[in-house]
Amino acid sequence: MKNIFTYLLFIFLIVALYGFAFSFAQSKGIDAKKVFESQKCNACHMVTTAGITSKKKDAVDLSTVGSTYKADFLAKYIKKDAKIKDMAHKVAFKGTDEEQTLLVKWLASLKKK
Ligand code: HEC
Repeated sequence: MKNIFTYLLFIFLIVALYGFAFSFAQSKGIDAKKVFESQKCNACHMVTTAGITSKKKDAVDLSTVGSTYKADFLAKYIKKDAKIKDMAHKVAFKGTDEEQTLLVKWLASLKKK
């Protein structure tokens, strides 16, 4: 009887851990990509490594942008509070702070292999 209880507890733990890891992975990757698309970043950018394409022919690929810039800089840059080579970004980010954090964290994680 005690064995069955331990066994069930074990199964329950595995399921709980799996669910937790899964939802964590989702909020890290998929949601940031959704923000990227809902904020129309893909009108001018592609992220080939994440399967995001753009209709624009000379779109700037952000696949390795995390190797060049850190999250806090990117956060300012997409809000036009920081410049790259004396140039502000074309558009200012219009999403919520939460979306911005999610997006720049994801962008900063895109690094050269
Ligand atoms: C209207 C077109 C346009 C839109 C929309 C746009 N960008 Fe850009 N973005 C550009 C251009 C053009 C550059 C390149 C500037 C340069 O290199 O001189 C750029 C550069 C960048 C860079 C720096 C890349 C590098 O390596 O220098 C980042 C990061 C970036 N954009 C993020 C975003 C994000 C995030 C969004 C969505 C919120 C977005 N952009 C939407 C046009 C756009």
